[in-house]
Amino acid sequence: MKRIALLALIMLLALFPLALAAGEGIDFNAYGYADETPALRDVFADDFKVGAAVNTVNLAPDSEFYRLVAKHYNAFVLENEMKPENVNPAPGVFLFGPADRFVAFGEELGATLRGHTLVWHSQVPAWWFKGEGGGDATREELLARMEEYIQTVVGRYKGRVAVWDVVNEAFSDQSGLRRDAEGSKWASIIGDLDGDGNDLDYIERAFSFAHEADPDARLILNDYSLEGDARKLDEFYEAVRTMLEKGVPIGGAGIQAHIQIGYPSVSAFEHAIEKLASLREIAPDFVVQVTELDVSIFDWNDKSAEKPITPELQKRLAERYADLFEMFRRQAAKGNLDMVVTWGAYDGSSWLNGYPVAGRTDAPLLFDRQMRAKPAFWGLIDRSYIDEAVDALP
Ligand code: GLA
Repeated sequence: MKRIALLALIMLLALFPLALAAGEGIDFNAYGYADETPALRDVFADDFKVGAAVNTVNLAPDSEFYRLVAKHYNAFVLENEMKPENVNPAPGVFLFGPADRFVAFGEELGATLRGHTLVWHSQVPAWWFKGEGGGDATREELLARMEEYIQTVVGRYKGRVAVWDVVNEAFSDQSGLRRDAEGSKWASIIGDLDGDGNDLDYIERAFSFAHEADPDARLILNDYSLEGDARKLDEFYEAVRTMLEKGVPIGGAGIQAHIQIGYPSVSAFEHAIEKLASLREIAPDFVVQVTELDVSIFDWNDKSAEKPITPELQKRLAERYADLFEMFRRQAAKGNLDMVVTWGAYDGSSWLNGYPVAGRTDAPLLFDRQMRAKPAFWGLIDRSYIDEAVDALP
């Protein structure tokens, strides 16, 4: 009897190191594009689409970047090349080269494509807002330009680009709609067309034009800070509710989610998804998408020039990402969320290296500057890998 107990003890002790090293045999410093690295889109296949913002200049087939994004993502968006200032720089001029290449790339991979963005106050051509007779464009001129743009662009990719960010960043950081003081002329020029007492009309028109151009596309109203700013979330929610009740064809809310390592809380973010997804009471097909996720290692008000990317910081970022994606899974299981897109694919290509402090090094994504998988990546594959991945850092 004693011998059997001793034998069992010895066997248990022999197994112990295995239990500790759950990630035995994994090269935690593998390149994201390496065959041995698990693919994000497989890991989340039952939950939501995982996407990344890309630029066509990086999409040469066989490049490391191409291999990275082709392996991990099943949704894509162009970072800048489908914005109106690039597509429609002058009256009657439409430049579709990069957008066509992007759509062909996405179709080759069988991915879901997002069109970003149709109506925004930034990266729009200045001529849209100028009147033919001088001064500002008239309401009629601006509406005609908006209609022509949306019909032409959405019509061109009908049935191929499945999701459009129809209107981007329409809401103010102070109150109500963004207006001239925050760089937008849309609401002040177009105003209240139907006399119902609000200026949501330019948004309503944009969605109607897009719906006419492609009735099957999912049409998104996209904005930032919804995950952390309760006042903005409430105003955004009320506006969407008002428009859905009028029958405006809004198919979902886009939460950009340019967030930080310490803010906002996952519970505030989860609340935002739940609240917006509750609009399904009015529009049964309504859904939330996370459209531009990145997690800066700097706090919002931290304007310092650099921050050392220590193993402790990598661990914090990994836990933050793991918490977020566990929450996204919960929300997807409820039918509230169907897509999570990161703004860029690896740290070297993130806009945060230039914003809000030019030239500083941020590390907000899942793959590092050499495209190696970070502890934040491994934490999404299996949370129990985080410590080992941190220990294995070069
Ligand atoms: C916003 C826009 C994006 C992009 C990012 C930062 O969130 O929607 O198109 O410009 O800012 O790069």
